[in-house]
Amino acid sequence: MNNDQLNIAPPPFTDGIDRVDGRLKVTGAAKYSAEYDMPNMSYAVFALSTITKGTIKSIDTKAAERAPGVLAVITYLNAPKVPGYDTGGDPSKPPTGGGPLKFFVDNTVKYSGQPVAMVVADSFERATHAASLVKATYNKEEHQTDLTKNMAKAAAPKGNRGADYKRGNPEDWKTAAVKLEHEYVVPIDVHNPMELSALIAHWPADDKIVVYGKTQGVKSTQNAIAQAFKLPPDNVQVTAKFVGGAFGNALRTWPHEIATVAAAKLVKRPVKTVITRQMQFNTVGYRPYTWQKISMGATADGKLTGIIHEATGQTSSFEEFTEGTVNMTRFMYACPGVSTVYRIAPLDVNTPTWMRGPGEATGAFALESAIDELADQLGIDPIELRVINHADTDPENGKPFSSKNLKEAYQMGADKIGWKDRKAKPGTNMKDGWLVGYGLGTGVFGAGRGRATVKATMQADGVLLLQTSVTDIGVGTGTAMTQIASEIFTNVPVKKIRFELGDSSLPPSPTQGGSMITSTVGGAVHDACTALKQKFQQLIGNGGTDNPDYVKVLKDKNLPSLDVTITGSGSSELRNFSSYSYSVHFVQVKVHPTTGILKVSNVVSVADSGHIVSPKTARSQIIGGAIGGIGMALMEEGIMDHRYGRYVNADLANYHVPVHADIPQIDTLFVNKPDFKVNPMGAKGMGEIALIGMSAAVANAIYNATGKRIRELPITPDKLISKA
Ligand code: MOS
Repeated sequence: MNNDQLNIAPPPFTDGIDRVDGRLKVTGAAKYSAEYDMPNMSYAVFALSTITKGTIKSIDTKAAERAPGVLAVITYLNAPKVPGYDTGGDPSKPPTGGGPLKFFVDNTVKYSGQPVAMVVADSFERATHAASLVKATYNKEEHQTDLTKNMAKAAAPKGNRGADYKRGNPEDWKTAAVKLEHEYVVPIDVHNPMELSALIAHWPADDKIVVYGKTQGVKSTQNAIAQAFKLPPDNVQVTAKFVGGAFGNALRTWPHEIATVAAAKLVKRPVKTVITRQMQFNTVGYRPYTWQKISMGATADGKLTGIIHEATGQTSSFEEFTEGTVNMTRFMYACPGVSTVYRIAPLDVNTPTWMRGPGEATGAFALESAIDELADQLGIDPIELRVINHADTDPENGKPFSSKNLKEAYQMGADKIGWKDRKAKPGTNMKDGWLVGYGLGTGVFGAGRGRATVKATMQADGVLLLQTSVTDIGVGTGTAMTQIASEIFTNVPVKKIRFELGDSSLPPSPTQGGSMITSTVGGAVHDACTALKQKFQQLIGNGGTDNPDYVKVLKDKNLPSLDVTITGSGSSELRNFSSYSYSVHFVQVKVHPTTGILKVSNVVSVADSGHIVSPKTARSQIIGGAIGGIGMALMEEGIMDHRYGRYVNADLANYHVPVHADIPQIDTLFVNKPDFKVNPMGAKGMGEIALIGMSAAVANAIYNATGKRIRELPITPDKLISKA
């Protein structure tokens, strides 16, 4: 059977190299952190608090200690000292103000499911059994986990984070010819990557730590552990060769990881911790529940006059998590009067963290829904309304954009999805018993370049070895870096290029996050390869070819290898520009009017991400983000029973994410125009924009299909058949 018979369209974009680690992944040969073994391995399992707020009155660990195979039962009463904890040093770098939670330092309970004991045993099963024998009693205090009942606690974050913003007269929206004011809600979403948070810790000497851990940054994990145990960073070796998805939940080092390292010292054996899927919900962050309000006004011909965007998100009682929920509203449209207000409210929950797209994805749901609502009120096509208010320069700071091809992206997507078939009047496009609707949403995220160091070595066997500590959380970093190198070393075959990553002893790279890695590490790979080629030129002298036979040159010069180590970072010129990547997501949905059953029937995602370095992995990146956005729009929701402050759907049976049957063929289009101000490849990031704007595109398509405007995610069938 061929693709035609299967009715599968061939990928529209087939250039570029295959995944360098594809075979390892699909054959199971790729080794993830929890899969490493060590002699004498032991296993840690946590006993969790059954209350949400209060103190431990008593904790009985005798039965657990007597259980077979148990090596240690650690509670706040006997926990080994973590030296960095005593001096207030923050072992797990908080994303913002406040301090991260420290496990087993006192008897307080700050959220439901917080570990109260850690059992280490000689097998995972024995540790699990013993953990079930730990019995704690509590002095229970009244808890608050519902943001909707705690909006009065909302306050501006400390310091300068999330400061109020204002330009012109935002209040002009009130006197505009056409206006709206609506509230939008994004619930808790949980990253739920396939790979659970895992860490193996071993102390080969009193002052040396070896770690295999799931992390988006081996250097940041190295630094966090070094700080916690007051060791020089070089004494901590961190390896993460493969990461099975993360979406932000492995951006920081969490307290259970520090506890694992401490336990390994206590039992004098390697300790392996793999948290459960249930713990995944409140141990490694989540997208915070966020309330938003948009007030917006325009002239009768569609010119925006004023926008006010307010947002309040939840944080924990001990730490201030903030994100850029309202930021895009400041520069997305050419509106003279704009204000943004960002607040956070502390609840008795664990601290949220960035989840793909992060705050911008939450904010774009509100802003891009509101723009669609305004277009409907104005009787102007939603693309046309966006073009009318297109910002040619950055209205927030007056700077020119380093590149912006958003109008072209709108056009490309509109052509591809067949926007001309969209009926302007909602609820009027019925086909075969299904209501058909079209919608779009715009995404935007900062595009910059950070600092990274790459060592490039040409070996005597003709292998070009590239080394840096960056991790690949599944997006295809190794492939993209190989592609960049192969475009400089044009006469070195791709299979002779090796990109070594995921090891803290390699030259430093930043944590993989914030859509920065292709630009940052790719830029450094570009610089290192260019420098290595120059070094060869110097060796050959005048008259040499641009692409010499490197093996022969090394042999002639009697050299075992030739290498350079280069640190690359963004140019100062970039500061004179505003630099963003853009996406436009187009969605066609079909809604069954009686049952509210919804099918996403067509998706076109267009990225304005500069030059596309690695077409195949870029396509996968956009598809993955689009699916994440569809999940956010239609399914994902961490549901808490606030009486108990506890999740009721903390597993993959009840926390819904899209499966293949939910997702149609997704077309990915790239404007593919280079932005050389960002880096020498002309590439801008695409990890976040792949998701940002998608949830609004789905909501807007649903409105177009049904005439029902749903402003609270996820948009489940019950909301489409309810009368309200
Ligand atoms: Mo991401 S939320 O930059 O891992």
